Amino acid sequence: MNNPILYCENLSKQYEKVLALDDVSLSCAKGELLAIGGASGSGKSTLLSLLSGLEGADSGETYIEGQPLSKLSEDELALLRREKIGFVFQSFNLIPTLSALENVEFPLFPMKLRRNEMEERAKKLLEAVGLHDRLSHLPAKLSGGEKQRVAVARALINNPKIVFADEPTGNLDSKNGAELFTLIKRLNGEMNVTFIIVTHDEGFISKADRVIRMKDGKITG
Ligand SMILES: Nc1ncnc2c1ncn2[C@@H]1O[C@H](COP(=O)(O)OP(=O)(O)O)[C@@H](O)[C@H]1O
Ligand SMILES: [Mg+2]
Repeated sequence: MNNPILYCENLSKQYEKVLALDDVSLSCAKGELLAIGGASGSGKSTLLSLLSGLEGADSGETYIEGQPLSKLSEDELALLRREKIGFVFQSFNLIPTLSALENVEFPLFPMKLRRNEMEERAKKLLEAVGLHDRLSHLPAKLSGGEKQRVAVARALINNPKIVFADEPTGNLDSKNGAELFTLIKRLNGEMNVTFIIVTHDEGFISKADRVIRMKDGKITG
């Protein structure tokens, strides 16, 4: 693959007696929509943690835009994550006391932008995910599908190169899950952001640019 946005070589990670990741190598192209499938316990979340620099590997290396993550200090890693990565979690992870708009703005707070600019960017993204009429709603007043769309807008607010999502439809019903995937597919096309998404949803897997499947800490295909 020419000039991948992200790649990893020979990643392994052991937790106590479990070899969660066993010598995994993988490349991802800029703008790609990559799905990761596989049974529970196969190492998918561990792989996302190591690809996004949330956790260090026991051996092997992850490169984001050519930078080897293990060579970065904690501060450099935090900066890289803040500037280049967005994350969407299964359980939404919105801040309950902040409005939808404030949740989306939140990752920008350390960047010392003007208040207006933060708000403009957050509003634009909430519009892009179809929530222009929910700006001041607290998470408790939003449906599951709406919460996850706020989370997708939040993941995109820093103009990331890569968005990781770990079973983003795991807490949604099938209709809202399908809508979220349609949204992700559209944003992937429009914004040229790379998405790496763990999912069990075969309907979505069939829409991804590529799928890798995991078993016992290895990529099986
Ligand atoms: N922090 C941890 N401590 C101990 N074992 C862990 C930890 N994280 C993951 N594991 C184990 O590693 C394996 C892979 O887990 P995980 O990456 O979460 O799989 P998946 O996301 O595919 O369900 C499982 O056997 C899991 O129990
Ligand atoms: Mg998992």
